[in-house]
Amino acid sequence: MNHFTNLNTLTDTEVMGLIDQAISFKNGTADIPTQKMTVANLFFENSTRTKSSFQMAELKLGWSQIIVDPSGSSTAKGESLSDTLKTLGAIGVDAAVIRHRQTNWYVPLLTDDSGLMPILINAGDGSGQHPSQSLLDLMTIYEEFGHFAGLHIRIVGDLSHSRVARSNAEILQRLGAEVSFAGPTAWYPEDFNQFGSFVKIDDGLEDIDVMMMLRVQHERLSEVADEQFDPASYHRIYGLTRDRYQRLAPQAIIMHPAPVNRGVEIADELVEAPKSRIFKQMANGVFARMAILSSVVEAKHAVTN
Ligand code: CP
Repeated sequence: MNHFTNLNTLTDTEVMGLIDQAISFKNGTADIPTQKMTVANLFFENSTRTKSSFQMAELKLGWSQIIVDPSGSSTAKGESLSDTLKTLGAIGVDAAVIRHRQTNWYVPLLTDDSGLMPILINAGDGSGQHPSQSLLDLMTIYEEFGHFAGLHIRIVGDLSHSRVARSNAEILQRLGAEVSFAGPTAWYPEDFNQFGSFVKIDDGLEDIDVMMMLRVQHERLSEVADEQFDPASYHRIYGLTRDRYQRLAPQAIIMHPAPVNRGVEIADELVEAPKSRIFKQMANGVFARMAILSSVVEAKHAVTN
């Protein structure tokens, strides 16, 4: 695995290997790889969790890092992503962690053999994939239940704009979970039918193991849709309210990739409720990203030796 762009292109064994590795880093039982790299972190879209936890993972691995702020770089003068990466490669950067508003930003770059960056890591592409978030979500579920097969996982909310939903739905279904979706019909992409069923949020709530709530992505809504959006009615119809929380089974957990619109997709006080694993997800993100970085450096080392 030279690049890490889409968790769903990995085999089940590779995904489970990454989960095990992440848990071993968390438990302190994994060896830190002896190979070191210099990583450039390029976030063309805003981020708190992904950016900070990749940086933290790089520090914990003892790697060097440089932060490239796109708004203060030559991107603002029109330099292409490809040329930016060739430049960073030329000055000695080994890997680039990239978040970009363009869905599939990495696809044309994977076939470019003109001296581009040796390793590309996708930190979120438009409404496409968010593989490191998906890995930390899998890690969190696996720590809780010890398996995926037969779990009832409901993903709720702004499905059409969510790279988290797309990344997670496919891999969770492949690993044997029963996935269902809920939220506004207008925000349901038809192609999600291949991963699970579209239901009402209240259907069979008592049988759900994982309620995965999604942020309403105001920045991806049209101006008209955003103006018409009513947070109170959204919360009542599609949100995780206190009443819905009370109906969940004893073992059920709630997740959210964050940032959270408190009081919209989830009631304010439920963010810190006993069933919430939202801050555990954030903590696990560091170890999941350590596993990703270790796997790419090991793959690079295996190729060059
Ligand atoms: N969950 C997530 O991707 O958060 P950030 O946008 O803050 O990185």
